Amino acid sequence: MENRLVSTPVISATGLWTPAQSISNAELVQSYNAWADNWNRENEAEIKSGLVEPKTHSSVEFIEKASGIKSRFVVDKAGVIDPDIMAPRIPERPNDQLSILAEMAVLAARDALRAAGRDPKDIGAVICAASNMQRAYPAMAIEVQQALGIEGFAFDMNVACSSATFGIQTAADFVRAGHAKSVLMVNPEICSGHLNFTDRDSHFIFGDVATAVLVEAEHIAPRAHWKILGTKLKTQFSNNIRNNFGFLNRAAPDGVGTPDKLFVQEGRKVFREVVPMVADMIGDHMNELGLTGASLRRMWLHQANANMNRLISAKVLGRDATEDDSPTVLDTYANTSSAGSIIAFHKNSSDFKPGEKGLICSFGAGYSAGTVFVEKTA
Ligand code: COA
Repeated sequence: MENRLVSTPVISATGLWTPAQSISNAELVQSYNAWADNWNRENEAEIKSGLVEPKTHSSVEFIEKASGIKSRFVVDKAGVIDPDIMAPRIPERPNDQLSILAEMAVLAARDALRAAGRDPKDIGAVICAASNMQRAYPAMAIEVQQALGIEGFAFDMNVACSSATFGIQTAADFVRAGHAKSVLMVNPEICSGHLNFTDRDSHFIFGDVATAVLVEAEHIAPRAHWKILGTKLKTQFSNNIRNNFGFLNRAAPDGVGTPDKLFVQEGRKVFREVVPMVADMIGDHMNELGLTGASLRRMWLHQANANMNRLISAKVLGRDATEDDSPTVLDTYANTSSAGSIIAFHKNSSDFKPGEKGLICSFGAGYSAGTVFVEKTA
C-alpha cells in the first residue's frame, strides 16, 4: 500500500482557454506598414537630413520563415491593428471585479478541473506561474483561488517562458512533501500587453492564451494520468531577453510604450545560446533517468521559434523530428510564453498509449529552462 506521507505526484489533467479574436500575419504586417509609413511622413525632415533612419516595411514571408508563426490569438484585436494605436485597448476593471488575467486563468482551470472530474474543494494550493503578471499584488493566484472557491494557499511565480515547468516542479514538490494533495498551476499570458507593436524585429512574436495543469497525489488522481518521471530546472543570467514592465499598468497618452518598458530581445543571440543549453540539459536529464531519444514518443517543446525547436529535437533524437515527434502550435498561437509547451501537450497527447513517454520542455528569459519527463498510465 502506498505510504500516504510520501505521495507520488502525477499530472491529472490540463486545461486551455483561447481568446476569441486572432490576427493573421497579413493583418499585422498591414497595420505595421501603415504605422511605419505614417512615422516616415511625420519624420520626413529628420530622415532627409540623415538624423534618423526611415522605418522599413515588415513582411509576412520573413515572419513565417524566421519563426513559423502564421497567426496569433489576442484579447483585443482592434487596438493592436489600428496604426494610430498599435497596442491592445483593455479597459481597466474596478478592484471589486475579477481581473482579466484571473478570469482567463479561471477559464483554463475549469477546463482542467472538468477533465479530471475534480471539485475545487479538493484542491489545496494554486500557483500562478506566468511571465506577464497584471500587477504586483495581491497575487493573481489568490484571486483565482477565491474565484474557484479553493481553500489552502496560493502564490505567483514568474520565470518568464519557463514558468510552467518551474510551476510543475514546485507543485510536484508540494505533493511529495505532503503540503497539498492537489495543486492547480495556471499560466495566463496577455503577452500582447507587453509587446512593442512598433518594433519590426519583434512585433509578430507573441499571442495571448491561458493554460492550467493539475498536479496531484497519485492515489487521488483519475485513473488515466501522467506519471512524472523526473523534473529538472536551470537558470543562467542574461540580458538578451528583457522586459521592464509593459502597457498593462502604464497610461501612455498615445498607447505606444517606450521600448525598454516592453519586451526586447537580441533574437539571434538568444537563438545561438539557448539551443545548445536546452539540448544539453535534455540530454543530461535523459541520461540521469536512463532514457534515450528512441524511448521518447513525443516532445512538447516551448513554442518560441519553429527553427529552434527543429534544432533542439534533432539533437535529442539524433535525426530530424516529424510533426508527430515535436508538434508545433506556433502557426496558430505564436509564442505564448509560459503556456506554449502546455498548449502543445494539451492538444497533442490524447493519442498516447499506456507506458509511452514524453517530454514537456520550456525555455526563455532569465535564461531559464525546465524539463518534465512524463509517462502515460492505463
Ligand atoms: N520583416 C522583414 N524583415 C525583417 C523583420 C520583419 N518583421 N524583422 C527583421 N527583419 C530583417 C532584419 O532587418 C535582417 O535584415 P538584414 O539581414 O538586411 O540586416 C533580417 O531580417 C534578419 O534579422 P534577424 O533579426 O537576424 O532574424 P532572425 O533570423 O534571427 O529571426 C527571430 C528573428 C526573432 C525570429 C529569431 O532570432 C528568434 O526567434 N530568436 C529566438 C527568440 C526567442 O526564442 N526568444 C525567446 C522569447 S521568449
